[in-house]
Amino acid sequence: MKIGVLTGGGDCPGLNAVIRAVVRKSIASGHQVYGIKKGWRGLMDKDFVELTIDSVSGILHRGGTILGSSRTNVYKEKDGEARAIQNLKDMGLDALVAIGGEDTLGVAAKLFKSGLKVVGVPKTIDNDLNATDYTFGFDTAVNVATEAIDRIHTTAESHNRVMVVEVMGRHAGWIAIHSGMAGGADIILIPEKPFDIEEVCDLLKQRHGRGKSFSIVCVAEGATPKEGSLVLQSLEKDSFGHVMLGGIGNIIAEEIEKRTGYETRATVLGHIQRGGSPTAYDRVLATRFGVKAAELVHDGNFGKMAALKGEKIIAVNLDDAVGVLKTVDDEFYEVAQTFFG
Ligand code: F6P
Repeated sequence: MKIGVLTGGGDCPGLNAVIRAVVRKSIASGHQVYGIKKGWRGLMDKDFVELTIDSVSGILHRGGTILGSSRTNVYKEKDGEARAIQNLKDMGLDALVAIGGEDTLGVAAKLFKSGLKVVGVPKTIDNDLNATDYTFGFDTAVNVATEAIDRIHTTAESHNRVMVVEVMGRHAGWIAIHSGMAGGADIILIPEKPFDIEEVCDLLKQRHGRGKSFSIVCVAEGATPKEGSLVLQSLEKDSFGHVMLGGIGNIIAEEIEKRTGYETRATVLGHIQRGGSPTAYDRVLATRFGVKAAELVHDGNFGKMAALKGEKIIAVNLDDAVGVLKTVDDEFYEVAQTFFG
């Protein structure tokens, strides 16, 4: 077979490890692999290149994606679906491995129903994909955010400040809850639990009343105040209709300083969480996902996604992975809440 592989959506540590695994395993099984550039954009433009064992050598530890990425949505393009199916034929490709999150895999699921032979690999630092215990990239993002909180701790302590750290995660609080717990944050705000700023300030006052002179607040970019809606930096939307989040950390910091009188500063970690080398855990998970995807293609088992269940890599239906976001459950949140204030 001639197998296409693409990476779509936001970049994520471990993408290159998946590409390398798909190429190595598929070539070992007697197939040829072609990299489609810039996600679904490359399929629309027939922009692709052959990937050999040589071309994926030395990329395991590298962040980003050697194929490039985009937020192109096939279903927003003129005759997108028909063109995607026709273009794959014109390119001489028999099957496709799509590496992406909710949006990229949502397109893959629809294209599968229309006859395209596609297999998915779950990517996102947000860890919000259903049907897999973890996505690759998440562990790296959590480690970056935890290290940042550790570093911010020292300034908080030296200067007797409240430090607000804003992390990514879109509409799921996984990065915030994990890095906040690991970094010993005193309050963690996540989209799943709308917050009351007055209660946040009360918790900080209680803590400072116990003699503490500094605090760390970890806030997910998608956290929302109880009575209000999302705080947006921009109203611009991508082709999947997502607003660009970010900026709530600064607003919370201002409110805390105004309401408590404690000197407060905000740090927005932003794309630092997506950059750089993947952790060992993400390299291994990404590699296992890539090998599984290659096996699914080899076996003609299309419409599936490689997924982690416990310690095992299994195949799930693409449809089960998209549509519903996996968000932080009450039990997890309550453990984190034990340490608030
Ligand atoms: O989905 C991954 C993610 O990093 C989110 O956490 C964040 O909201 C979004 O992508 C940012 O997207 P962009 O890089 O397009 O600004």
